Amino acid sequence: MTYTYEYYQASADYLKKLVPWTPDIGIILGSGLGPFAETLQDKIVVPYGDIPNFLVSTAPYQAGKLIFGTLNGKKLVCLSGRFHSYEGYSYEQLTIPVRVLKLLGIQTLILTNAAGAVNKSYKPGDVMVLSDHIKLNGDSPMRGPNVPEFGPRFFDVSKLYTPALRSLALEKAKGSGLTVHEGVYMFFTGPQYETPAEIRAARTLGADAVGMSTVTEALTAGHCGLPLLAMALITNMAAGVLDQPLSEEEVGETAGRAAELFSGYLASIIEAL
Ligand code: HPA
Repeated sequence: MTYTYEYYQASADYLKKLVPWTPDIGIILGSGLGPFAETLQDKIVVPYGDIPNFLVSTAPYQAGKLIFGTLNGKKLVCLSGRFHSYEGYSYEQLTIPVRVLKLLGIQTLILTNAAGAVNKSYKPGDVMVLSDHIKLNGDSPMRGPNVPEFGPRFFDVSKLYTPALRSLALEKAKGSGLTVHEGVYMFFTGPQYETPAEIRAARTLGADAVGMSTVTEALTAGHCGLPLLAMALITNMAAGVLDQPLSEEEVGETAGRAAELFSGYLASIIEAL
């Protein structure tokens, strides 16, 4: 399958007919963080299955709909439910959500996810603003024919996570009720959680948290020049940090408990954009 500019335009054109305004900010909500989108005003909800050339989410705790709406005057479009390579999507397919958001006209992209803490000073319920990432496995979402309408074949990612947005997020941490760190996220393909040896390796390489999402979307945003903020909700200590097995339930429960504070924090950042 070759993904051309027209391929993404088919999704965007369908959505533009349904929504009579242009969103300023796109948000991809991670596991358990879907409730944020419910707080938007004047919502227009579009199930992924209705959108031509789009993907359908299969992950637990994730809804699978695009939610347009406003938050204190800011025009937003949220993906409630995201796509991961472990679901069987190709890395090229994982470009679709961010490229469609770009074609809808967003000026800023915010990514959120659930992650395991490699940094032993972090605690479940904390937040980590991504300063950078490590991706040593899995393909690039930009492999295959370049789509020059989005960006160049070779592109710089040294400031992928926009410094001004990171500073804003750290500033808004005060009064959020959350402990907010800044750190490096390392991508693992999943769906298995990491081994304790992989987590020790990740720590040696400089990672503070690990997860199975976000990086493909971040690279797609970087390719088309979208300013980007990415934030991880720490749902568990990574494998081997504690002498206990990791579980989907633990991740879902921590995400659910922190959802309200995290939503408030996200809203305060969006208001300041
Ligand atoms: N590893 C990978 N992905 C995750 C984790 C983890 O420990 N926690 C939440 N998502």
